[in-house]
Amino acid sequence: MSEAGAPGGADELLQRLRLHGAVPAHVAVIMDGNGRWAQGRSLPRPLGHHAGMTAVREVVEGCLAAGVEVLTLFAFSQENWRRPVDEIESLMNLLEEYIAKEVDELRQQGVVVRILGETDRLSPSARRAVDRIMGETSDGAVLSLNLCISYGSRAEIARAARLIAEDVAAGKLDPADVDEDAIARHLYTAPWPDPDLLIRTSGEQRLSNFLLWQLAYAEFYVTPVLWPDFTRRHLFEAILEFQRRDRRFGRVSV
Ligand code: FPP
Repeated sequence: MSEAGAPGGADELLQRLRLHGAVPAHVAVIMDGNGRWAQGRSLPRPLGHHAGMTAVREVVEGCLAAGVEVLTLFAFSQENWRRPVDEIESLMNLLEEYIAKEVDELRQQGVVVRILGETDRLSPSARRAVDRIMGETSDGAVLSLNLCISYGSRAEIARAARLIAEDVAAGKLDPADVDEDAIARHLYTAPWPDPDLLIRTSGEQRLSNFLLWQLAYAEFYVTPVLWPDFTRRHLFEAILEFQRRDRRFGRVSV
């Protein structure tokens, strides 16, 4: 019997979560621990990021199997630009490698890919790669995969404020209409519902400037598993835990 098919394996967890209740429509993930994974094996950090690519594939396929509609991954923060130049370079190369390897399969699976963040800071070749994957997957209707790259949530909110100010100055928006919906409409995430579930790997319990606005009512799930070791089985465990939570959105339980 395959590992996935063994008792307590991925297949059984998938059956259980299908019977158990509603699957989160939108899952967001802070993929953390690549560096520690590499360090633990006396490998250079870029090899940890490379191993993290396999986990990205796992989590995309897990979301497709479970029926998650939106998956938002924190792949590179604005703060990550402060890392050593060779690590930044290897992360950018990895992005291009990921796109070259996965674009055809993602398109066939019905995945539509979007890049959220300040993409004008990317190298010309990385920009070409992200334009390619967004263009070639634009018809996907099964799963929206959002890759946050050169992304910072405070910068995203400041950008929304700037865009709103421009609309007000141009007479297109009445200041009285600047409400929560107006802000949400000017965030990168405007087309999608807020995440229901946030997963962070490697045991760290912080938001790290990720989707500060959008995570207002998300359920948090922190796992000690390092990102390169994260499999669809871990995703299904997180979804089962989500299904046990009592989401009250500030109200009382019924
Ligand atoms: C955090 O681990 C992870 C990152 C900064 C990069 C995430 C990138 C990937 C998973 C690579 C593949 C993804 C795509 C979409 C191409 P860390 O380096 O902060 O780990 P540490 O805290 O253990 O040092």
